[in-house]
Amino acid sequence: MADIYPAWILHLRKKSLDIFNTHSVPRWLVFLADLAVVFTAFLIAYVLRFNFHIPADRMGIFAWQGLIATAVYGLFCIIFRSYSGLIRHTTLTDITLVFVVTTCSAAVLIFFSLIGNWLHWADLLAIPQSIILIHYVAVSLLLFFGRILVKLVFLFATGTSKNKKRVLIYGAGELGFVVKRVVLSDPRYGFHVSGFIDDDRNLQGKKINGINVYGPSVLTAEFIEKNKIESLIIAIKALTVDRKSSIIRSAIAVGLEVLDTPEVDKWLAGQLRMPQFKRVDLEDLLGREPIKLDINTIKKGLTDKTILITGAAGSIGSEIARQLTSFQCKSVILVDQAETPLFYLQNELREKFLDARFRIVPADVTNIARMEYIFTEYRPHIVFHAAAYKHVSLMEENPHEAVRVNVGGTSIVSELAIKYEVEKFVMISTDKSVNPSSVMGASKRLCEKVVQSRARQKGHSTQFIITRFGNVMGSNGSVIPIFAKQIENGGPVTVTHPEVYRYFMTIPEACQLVLEAGFMGQGGEIFVFDMGQQVKIADLAKAMIKLSGFIPDKDIQIVYTGLRPGEKLYEELLTDAELTIPTHHEKIKKAHVEAIDGTLVLERIDWLLNDLYSLCACEVVQVMKDLIPEYHTTNGKFKEAKSAPVK
Ligand SMILES: NC(=O)c1ccc[n+]([C@@H]2O[C@H](COP(=O)([O-])OP(=O)(O)OC[C@H]3O[C@@H](n4cnc5c(N)ncnc54)[C@H](O)[C@@H]3O)[C@@H](O)[C@H]2O)c1
Repeated sequence: MADIYPAWILHLRKKSLDIFNTHSVPRWLVFLADLAVVFTAFLIAYVLRFNFHIPADRMGIFAWQGLIATAVYGLFCIIFRSYSGLIRHTTLTDITLVFVVTTCSAAVLIFFSLIGNWLHWADLLAIPQSIILIHYVAVSLLLFFGRILVKLVFLFATGTSKNKKRVLIYGAGELGFVVKRVVLSDPRYGFHVSGFIDDDRNLQGKKINGINVYGPSVLTAEFIEKNKIESLIIAIKALTVDRKSSIIRSAIAVGLEVLDTPEVDKWLAGQLRMPQFKRVDLEDLLGREPIKLDINTIKKGLTDKTILITGAAGSIGSEIARQLTSFQCKSVILVDQAETPLFYLQNELREKFLDARFRIVPADVTNIARMEYIFTEYRPHIVFHAAAYKHVSLMEENPHEAVRVNVGGTSIVSELAIKYEVEKFVMISTDKSVNPSSVMGASKRLCEKVVQSRARQKGHSTQFIITRFGNVMGSNGSVIPIFAKQIENGGPVTVTHPEVYRYFMTIPEACQLVLEAGFMGQGGEIFVFDMGQQVKIADLAKAMIKLSGFIPDKDIQIVYTGLRPGEKLYEELLTDAELTIPTHHEKIKKAHVEAIDGTLVLERIDWLLNDLYSLCACEVVQVMKDLIPEYHTTNGKFKEAKSAPVK
């Protein structure tokens, strides 16, 4: 956009901007400059008082009295630190400080003057009161206008609002003003505040500091386009998660970039700076209330205990490990077969949690000898079993592996848990195990049946607990990192079906609930987590594109690839035969599970595992169907599967 100023003014502006960007005057220099102003003003006052002809005999006393006045002003400058603010950002508070300093100093000088007149030997103190008053007015005006002048030069140097990025600040309260000051103070970002938005009707329609305060209804495409607004900064202290997510939704719907103000305790050295504003992310958009935990029970359950986590290098396992760092566990044994992710986890834990007691143990949960070695070596008190193959489409192609790793691994680890007198075994299951339609979901239902059967076995004291939940945001291979990568590469974003819905929880949330459920259970329960509302994946893709500053189907295309075998439009959390019972935790329900013949289930599963590779894929699937009557495959190639001959 063309500027309205001639070239020499633009040059001057650029030079001053360079100076502002590279220099800020040291505070001691501001202090000395203020003292120079005080002395000069004293001279002016003397000259005015004597009608521009200071008598020769007063010249000597003038200099001494000038120094006394300067010393008194200097003292109050130090007391009130009136020189400490950045002059270019002078505020009402800084101006008030200047007046406090000048008023106090003038009052002290008048007091000195009265004493000087009273004690005849103290002539030096007896500054004529008319001079003190003229000096008071002159010094106040000089200090005030000096500061305003620097501020005006700064505003000139940082340019007009025309070529700046226009922002709205959501929140016209105290925080909103701090944010306004911060965004305007850094010329490198070139922001212009076009208005505040506030929910308080009493503020709407008013102007604060010359800036309009609007209601939330201005977040319309028309208003945003007309006023060329590009960003919205959220600046409200106590904002509910729901309200925040609704503001973000409205803002991204009209194409705004949304920035969030960090909480006050996260400001660097108590100061808010531009780089600390962060773009809102999907978690803010989906808006989840923080989980309340019964920390005391969890703490009691974990203190001085050895914890074994399988699948520890994965999304869920590694987050459980991170959360355990806030408890006083005796040690945490991290088991996974994936060596490189284990290595990264080790580095992360070493860097972040210096005094955490971790052991990294590469191992395959289906290798019984290796797992028995680990149980004998470490004698864990609590096991979190998260090792699994979880990708629906991959497992659909490889049913043998789904059974070997998921069912076989669970069978081995749960059996060892009983043998080595583990107190608690917590299995991580998934909503895909409910009325399964995929090999992966069915294999996890079989895992649950194994664990339920172990819980029913007599003669042991191990508590077996199952936790079941839906998709977690950002886990390995989940849609969010895939979409993020696709957007980074310029698209297209691939969604299987326009009507596909999924639950979304954050990884930390899910793992907090795993800990809570683990210590609420007495054994034999399946705990299901309240995942909130299902989210339409197509909407999620659009939101992610918008959050990245692009327009869906214009800048970045969304392509529908069709449902894959085994994939459902909606996920379920509970089977028809199960009812849920509330627990003391609002987000955790207990599934009322139907009775199973544990011995028979374990026998059949042992037979399947032993003879796994003598069966073809269809036969493996058919045995799973026999064991899980509610399993209905959507994969054409398994529909006609025949029962395998049970030996
Ligand atoms: N991610 C989700 O959205 C989600 C939601 C609900 C339930 N779950 C369940 O949580 C469990 C873990 O999921 P995740 O997202 O952490 O998956 P992930 O793939 O990130 O982690 C699984 C880990 O298990 C390890 N593993 C696999 N086979 C192993 C074996 N034989 N021996 C040792 N380690 C082995 C893998 O190396 C991997 O590190 C799965 O059972 C999954 O169904 C996941």
